[in-house]
Amino acid sequence: MCDKIKHLSDSSPSIFAGPEALSYFDGWLGEAGSAYSAIYFLVDANTAEHCLVRLAASLEQLPEFEMLEIPAGEEQKSWEVAGQLLAALAELGADRRALLIALGGGVVTDLGGFVASIYKRGIDHVLVPTSLLGMTDAAIGGKNGVDLDGVKNLAGVFRHPRALVVWPDFLDTLPEEFILDGRAESIKHGLIADAAFLGELKRGEEAWTAAQVERSMAIKTEICAEDMLERGKRKLLNFGHTVGHALESHMLQNETPWSHGRCVAAGMCVEIELSVELLGFPVSKRDEVNGYLIDRFALSELKEKTFSQWRSWLSYDKKNAEGQWRFVLLKDVGEAKYDQPVTPEQLDRAWTKAFQ
Ligand SMILES: NC(=O)c1ccc[n+]([C@@H]2O[C@H](COP(=O)([O-])OP(=O)(O)OC[C@H]3O[C@@H](n4cnc5c(N)ncnc54)[C@H](O)[C@@H]3O)[C@@H](O)[C@H]2O)c1
Repeated sequence: MCDKIKHLSDSSPSIFAGPEALSYFDGWLGEAGSAYSAIYFLVDANTAEHCLVRLAASLEQLPEFEMLEIPAGEEQKSWEVAGQLLAALAELGADRRALLIALGGGVVTDLGGFVASIYKRGIDHVLVPTSLLGMTDAAIGGKNGVDLDGVKNLAGVFRHPRALVVWPDFLDTLPEEFILDGRAESIKHGLIADAAFLGELKRGEEAWTAAQVERSMAIKTEICAEDMLERGKRKLLNFGHTVGHALESHMLQNETPWSHGRCVAAGMCVEIELSVELLGFPVSKRDEVNGYLIDRFALSELKEKTFSQWRSWLSYDKKNAEGQWRFVLLKDVGEAKYDQPVTPEQLDRAWTKAFQ
């Protein structure tokens, strides 16, 4: 795995990835750290226990810092918790030259990036993702945000961190169920951009490899570098997420919460069915990919659920335009198209077909 990935532009972060990521980050702290008046870590209960000590022990240049700790879980990625963190920073006397380092999974990096982006109109932040999903997806591309009134990512901003530090060794302590979540996003990257990568992921015995983390990072980084604000190509990364987010919001509010990755896996199955009907995605590949997803992510229990149970959450989707649902659909593996109009009837049919 490459140890240091190039700067993409002046506003994009310094990216340190691979086994030596922490020593590169230490060097960055040595150079840039003195410009900051104070350093604040945002962690959750698990990353406080498993990751912070390992990180701090590896960074010789890390000055004294304050720690802001939240409980673990998606419920923390909320408007209310963001407000509490803003108040905590103010109480600790953080000024505009403070640096916030978010050390955790996608919840902590989305929340930390958001809080840093709005505190006193924006302070610098660094993202250190510690989950597979965070490393391959959430921490890349400058999207930060929180859930509001149960709606996923209703409030958010685009803003890159100053640095992104991806050290795969953090995954040693990540529970297996969350490894699977990260895999869902890598499968998405394969489906929209790289058939060979998808094949490798489906065949792979190992839960993850450093090369797979790097390939996923590269796919997302390249797409976001072309279209940071999601006016066009970046929409491709929403494959599986239109249905996935609606299902995730529904489960969060009405039933037992499902993880992001599992909802995205379900969303990909449905959106592949739509792709078969609307863009002629090959049926043999549908059978192969959906069979794999249903099995790996235990999706057969969705048989019991109907489209009408969760469809109201779709109206919140940010990717819709002029009252129409717009989806990312696939013509083939590696050939994705955004802004594809879909009717409620088509979606209902695809949902039923996907899990019957
Ligand atoms: N900003 C984006 O572009 C983007 C993209 C995809 C997903 N997301 C967001 O990411 C979030 C999901 O991220 P996630 O799956 O990482 O969830 P998460 O942050 O809740 O982490 C999953 C669990 O793993 C624990 N954990 C994390 N790292 C650990 C480690 N190294 N050792 C032990 N435990 C560890 C966490 O405490 C948590 O319990 C969702 O809110 C989703 O909306 C954002």
